[in-house]
Amino acid sequence: MTRQMIIATTLEELRSARLLLDGPVGFVPTMGFLHAGHISLVRRARDECKSVVVSIFVNPTQFGPNEDLSKYPRDLDRDLRLLEEAGADLVWTPTPEVMYPPGFQTWVEVQEMTQPLEGAQRPGHFLGVTTVVAKLFNAVQPTKAYFGQKDAQQAAVIRQMVRDLNFPIEIVVCPIVREPDGLAMSSRNVYLDTEQRKAATVLYRALSAAKDAYEKGERDAEKLRRMMKEVIEREPLAQMQYVSCADYDTLQELDKVTGKILLSMAVFIGKTRLIDNFVLG
Ligand code: PAF
Repeated sequence: MTRQMIIATTLEELRSARLLLDGPVGFVPTMGFLHAGHISLVRRARDECKSVVVSIFVNPTQFGPNEDLSKYPRDLDRDLRLLEEAGADLVWTPTPEVMYPPGFQTWVEVQEMTQPLEGAQRPGHFLGVTTVVAKLFNAVQPTKAYFGQKDAQQAAVIRQMVRDLNFPIEIVVCPIVREPDGLAMSSRNVYLDTEQRKAATVLYRALSAAKDAYEKGERDAEKLRRMMKEVIEREPLAQMQYVSCADYDTLQELDKVTGKILLSMAVFIGKTRLIDNFVLG
């Protein structure tokens, strides 16, 4: 039997199409301009669930005033083709008016966990993420939702929100998909010119240097941070925003490394802000 992928725009269209889906339902929320990382989430959902829903929505409330909302890359036709190939059943492409109708005034906030790392550099970002993800969850009502480890803090914040608000949804965090030279897949990689693209491997190189040291027994978190910083500083096109060696669960910076840890960083290559991380231990 050939399967027809349904495309919904309004909330009513989404709800009617959702009613026809067999469970368990897997959900992959995205901002579009899909790459192999997103497709790996859709395929994982396809493997684990009876039906797969994907949303494409460039969420304005998670962009800061100086961030790249208006020039965020978009290509809906290509995204829909890729999703059809990957086996999505239903794609929801709401407009900003559908998600934030006039008079909208309810926000979902996770507190402590959104303060360090990305939260410290991008005030208000996670308020936008948790609010839109809560709305998407309420509309789609999935059994499982799939997020990439690339946005490590986002995944941790969403897990916390799901626990705190009793969403009956299992959060599945999937491994980072990388280019052959180690660069983590990101929709923002298209902004890089040839020289910047080469320089962008610095994130992977810095994380790998710290990982090597960790594997040789280094447990001083400050030394691991310094090691990552030094690799970044040697790359002329890179401007470090932060490097972190934090506890995996709490995201608090460590002195001594024990248990599961998150090495993470944000680095500007020209005007493009890239993030990456390794989980160790
Ligand atoms: O990771 C993303 O693409 C976005 O933050 C998400 C989860 C789709 C919410 O807008």
